Amino acid sequence: MTERAADGERCDAKRAAGDRAEPAARGEPVRIGLLGRGTVGAAFHDLVLERADAIEATSGRRPEIVGVLRRSDGDFEGILDRADIVVELIGGTDPARDYVLRALRAGRHVVTANKQLIAQFGDELFAAARDAGSQLRFEAAVAGVVPVIRVIQESLAATEITKVFGIVNGTTNFILSEMASTGSTYADALARAQELGYAEADPSDDVGGADAAAKMAILARLAFGAPVALADVAYQGITEIQPEDISYAKELGLSLKLLGVAERRDGGISVRVFPCFLYSHHPLAPVEGPFNAVMVEAPTITEITMSGPGAGGIETASAVLGDVVSIVSGRASVSAAHQRFEMVRDISSAFYLHLEVADRPGVLANIADVLGRNEVSVRSVVQRGMGNDARLVMVMHEGPESRFFAALEEIATLEFLRAQPRAIRVIEEEFV
Ligand SMILES: NC(=O)c1ccc[n+]([C@@H]2O[C@H](COP(=O)([O-])OP(=O)(O)OC[C@H]3O[C@@H](n4cnc5c(N)ncnc54)[C@H](OP(=O)(O)O)[C@@H]3O)[C@@H](O)[C@H]2O)c1
Repeated sequence: MTERAADGERCDAKRAAGDRAEPAARGEPVRIGLLGRGTVGAAFHDLVLERADAIEATSGRRPEIVGVLRRSDGDFEGILDRADIVVELIGGTDPARDYVLRALRAGRHVVTANKQLIAQFGDELFAAARDAGSQLRFEAAVAGVVPVIRVIQESLAATEITKVFGIVNGTTNFILSEMASTGSTYADALARAQELGYAEADPSDDVGGADAAAKMAILARLAFGAPVALADVAYQGITEIQPEDISYAKELGLSLKLLGVAERRDGGISVRVFPCFLYSHHPLAPVEGPFNAVMVEAPTITEITMSGPGAGGIETASAVLGDVVSIVSGRASVSAAHQRFEMVRDISSAFYLHLEVADRPGVLANIADVLGRNEVSVRSVVQRGMGNDARLVMVMHEGPESRFFAALEEIATLEFLRAQPRAIRVIEEEFV
């Protein structure tokens, strides 16, 4: 596009934004253009019909769907012309990004459930919304119906949040819960999740950690006011987890979760997703099945925990409609990302370490020597099996990850090791 055309487009956007009926008078319907009528879109469509009377009674404006766009049906320009609010439930980034940008630039408010869109193109979309004076709302993009975005943006707007963390992917939480309760393999637990509709036919984004990483990028941006992008998030999934890791850990009083953690550390920010063991008294330890739970920490609030269903058509639709009602009720959304920040990579963690070793004297002493030289201290050790089945399961105290990984690299070369070592992080924090 030429500079001139781009300028022309901005002028059109300003004109269109100016044309938009400013907080329309009570009694006027709020006209919704719906992009996508799949699992969430269809549930949203039904929910609007079902809740229209109640929303009109409380907000003074009746929601009406004035157009629906599907792959083979509908006309985006026509919908844009008729709508006050555009609800994007297509998913993915193409063509969703283009439609959302065009809607914002035309002065429409936008509600979306699309985490990839916000995580990858947040800067561009928030800037477009700011320039046009429109709202961009996305409560359903993180933790489904759990109102974590609204709590961070509104209730905690005056709080300096130090850490946001939790279980933000229901598929992996279901799989890990299933492995723990039945002793099944990862593959069997995944098949069960697919059978029950908790995992998609192609589950790679969920089980590989990318879905949780996108959600954590969004939470970090909101919590710290910093333009955290998906590329800033280090992530790891659950595909390598073995049933025996879970059962050994149970003996040590630990349960396994895929955690997303965004925190201020050493003057910077760290945002990561990783499988992790929690002690049983941790507030996230009892969160089972496809549920999500997010904790927020700050000196002024100590900590709060929110939990609930992380997905599902009707649950997600309910969060989307909540955003529509917020817009109708005139509540502004704030998504400024103004802080400069540095990503901190080497942070402190505790680890679980699983080693398959030869059954002979001196093995434990040898491993203890490597750990000691790297200043990694051991919290507990369980020795299991004999002969070709001998294993050592250890839990370390928290320390710099770089030291632990240096020790791990050395341990992996020891000649008495019968398989690659497996390491999983452990959250040691004490909760009362
Ligand atoms: N499902 C959940 O539980 C859940 C939970 C939280 C967030 N979300 C998010 O909600 C959004 C929607 O998810 P979903 O599960 O409802 O997806 P879905 O069932 O696959 O539905 C997608 C809809 O978008 C339409 N669509 C796809 N490509 C299009 C294109 N190029 N042009 C116009 N329309 C197009 C499809 O049209 P056709 O009908 O013609 O195929 C379909 O109606 C995603 O961002 C997802 O991440 C979903």
